[in-house]
Amino acid sequence: MEFSVKSGSPEKQRSACVVVGVYEPRRLSGVAEQLDKVSGGYLSNLLRRGDLEGKSGQMLLLHNVPNIFSERVLLVGCGKERELDERQYKQIIEKTIHTLNETGSMEAVCFLSELHVKGRDTYWKVRQAVEAAQGGLYTFNQLKTRKEEPRRPLRKLVFNVPTRRELPLSEKAIAHGLAVAKGMSICRDVANMPPNICTPRYLAERCEELATNYDNLSFNAVTEQEMAELGMHAYLAVGRGSENESVLSLLHYQGAAKEQAPIVLVGKGLTFDAGGISIKPAANMDEMKYDMGGAAAVLGAMQAIAELQLPINVIGAIAGCENMPDGRAYRPGDVLTTMSGQTVEVLNTDAEGRLVLCDTLTYVERFEPEAVVDIATLTGACIVALGHHASGLMSSHNPLAHELLSASEQSGDRAWRLPLWDEYQDALDSPFADMANLGGRDAGTITAACFLSRFTKKYHWAHLDIAGTAWRSGAKKGATGRPVPLLTQFIINRTASGEQD
Ligand code: BES
Ligand code: MN
Ligand code: ZN
Repeated sequence: MEFSVKSGSPEKQRSACVVVGVYEPRRLSGVAEQLDKVSGGYLSNLLRRGDLEGKSGQMLLLHNVPNIFSERVLLVGCGKERELDERQYKQIIEKTIHTLNETGSMEAVCFLSELHVKGRDTYWKVRQAVEAAQGGLYTFNQLKTRKEEPRRPLRKLVFNVPTRRELPLSEKAIAHGLAVAKGMSICRDVANMPPNICTPRYLAERCEELATNYDNLSFNAVTEQEMAELGMHAYLAVGRGSENESVLSLLHYQGAAKEQAPIVLVGKGLTFDAGGISIKPAANMDEMKYDMGGAAAVLGAMQAIAELQLPINVIGAIAGCENMPDGRAYRPGDVLTTMSGQTVEVLNTDAEGRLVLCDTLTYVERFEPEAVVDIATLTGACIVALGHHASGLMSSHNPLAHELLSASEQSGDRAWRLPLWDEYQDALDSPFADMANLGGRDAGTITAACFLSRFTKKYHWAHLDIAGTAWRSGAKKGATGRPVPLLTQFIINRTASGEQD
């Protein structure tokens, strides 16, 4: 879909549809009032008759409103004026797009970007609207033989902003919103792809494809043979039970001088996690195709960064692997030597993500990174702790943690910090190796991060556990595209120009 911004008055628009807000109870917003005046009280009449209460998300589509040039007017309920918050705003936008898409308007001028949302400016409102609009239209029907497409889908959406002064920033909001949305969409596509198609090799191919699409993006891969030469025996052990070879894919984005130290994003890319020999229960096991959600998010963020041509160096490391039970599979009791030289006793082969990640975290030392953030569907315990609303954030470096938290706050892609105190480290003690690969039932999310922290001593590091946020289960099963908005915002904030100038 195409987006643009302008600053005009609602009655002067010549469009298929003008979208304006109505508050509860039956109160016209400022722009709706303007339309009302020109139309000789047409809208206020409707409200008086009780056609629209103004409850959040209510829609009323009008045709041929007197003296209005546009073919349609869509009245959108926005709830009580003072209570309009971020969540409601996004829901209203999504619903509006849905309605426009179903009712035959191929273009529209939307005045909802002028609504007052507590604590948020025009940049935020326009950007969120773009993301919500694009996100709401996402479908994954590549594997269906019969595809349902809307007959007359919305093609063009114009956001109106109160003053011309706000146009440049709003245009930037559109560019950022579109890049994030595009990143989320590739993230969702790759994550939704079934595990018989989406293998570690497939992840590598998608990375390579991305690199051919952008000039300053390049690709290379580390094969199993190279991993063996490097001593990445933890990573290799996890993939041994699978017919699909492990591949560590690397995407290098160069937007700044070569000498500038890169940010490295590491994604857990378990294209399927059956649990290995410590096999998982059967219920919902299909959802373990999403165990590459971290890798998909890194791919999405790299796309967004490349799309925006941000002046920074970023490396995406996508740790592709499959965890299966087999005669060659690694076992509970095995002691593995990691690339760092530290040894690990395997207590459960289902705690595989940290084994793949620990060697990847050692591997990326060679880039002498400014900071490393890993993103992983690492622990079921994270869902117990935070549910599906926030990703878990853990970091041994406070400034980096705060940067990620403010990026999450700005982007609306929530994260919540959990502690990483030394006391938790003891849970990983092993009688047979330097450490065990798990730390018992308590604080499983934190002890998993403690494990990773032992491989991140050479740089500033943060860890995002996205087990609860990467996908939705149930009737609306599907990848969410998170935390692409958070990661992209984090990188945007890191660039000299900042996000809003
Ligand atoms: N990929 C899973 C974590 C997971 C499970 C994410 C369910 C989302 C939903 C991970 O590899 C895993 O199996 N973790 C184990 C660790 C345990 C064996 C210490 C877990 O969380 O149960
Ligand atoms: Mn597992
Ligand atoms: Zn896993």
